[in-house]
Amino acid sequence: MAFSLDNIVFWGRSFDEYVAMFNMSEMDLGKRILGVGDGPAAFNAALARAGGHVTSIDPIYQFSAGKIRSRINISYHMVMEQIYKNSSEFVWRRIPTIEELGRVRMEAMLDFLDDYPSGLKEGRYIAAQLPALPFKNRSFGLALCSHLLFLYSDNLSADFHVQSIMELCSVATEARIFPLIELGLKKSRHLDLVMARLRNNGFETSMESVPYEFQRGGDQMLRVTQGNGKSKSGGRSPDF
Ligand SMILES: C[S@@+](CC[C@H](N)C(=O)[O-])C[C@H]1O[C@@H](n2cnc3c(N)ncnc32)[C@H](O)[C@@H]1O
Repeated sequence: MAFSLDNIVFWGRSFDEYVAMFNMSEMDLGKRILGVGDGPAAFNAALARAGGHVTSIDPIYQFSAGKIRSRINISYHMVMEQIYKNSSEFVWRRIPTIEELGRVRMEAMLDFLDDYPSGLKEGRYIAAQLPALPFKNRSFGLALCSHLLFLYSDNLSADFHVQSIMELCSVATEARIFPLIELGLKKSRHLDLVMARLRNNGFETSMESVPYEFQRGGDQMLRVTQGNGKSKSGGRSPDF
């Protein structure tokens, strides 16, 4: 299916937000990290600058910096308007005001844009998409997926989630996914079923609280591992 720019919101979080969302330690930050659906987030730029090993995949990386910049400007006004309208759905603690949110997120996206040309050349930004990734098994120590799986449960099926998470656990030793709520602030309709299917396929899953909550009730991540490499399918072909 062709990827369309029209149904994507170009919106990216900061390095500090990633560290908190995924409860990352210094040791975690030293691993080979894959960011899945990183879009215009600043995580890759900041970690690469600090000497980390990080690769991001997202279908938007097929587009030029100019095109991504103009979509960010359109998304910025759209998202900020929505946040003004629905401000009670968010926790204004880490980021105290809507104005500060706009500043922090735009700073992160500008950091991404500055880094994007060199990151493309270095192979840190790769145009690819779930559920199939262009990497060999165990290429990464950690795969992170922020604000894609579970959040868009209305658009992405339970099967898509299982297949995607098994793929993450094939290319990385461990996967972390945040948040576990879907749009509308409800627990994802797929969460229980997806966890049960993963466990049935030999994966270990745990829901863990993290020191980050912006969407009200979104303060947990899912950690998934292959269960000492003993998953029934070896990762890539799910047994539904
Ligand atoms: C809401 S943004 C989140 C960006 C970033 N992870 C963050 O938290 O700031 C969701 C991103 O997922 C990307 N995306 C959409 N479908 C995808 C797929 N099948 N595989 C990987 N990324 C996808 C979009 O292009 C978009 O950049």
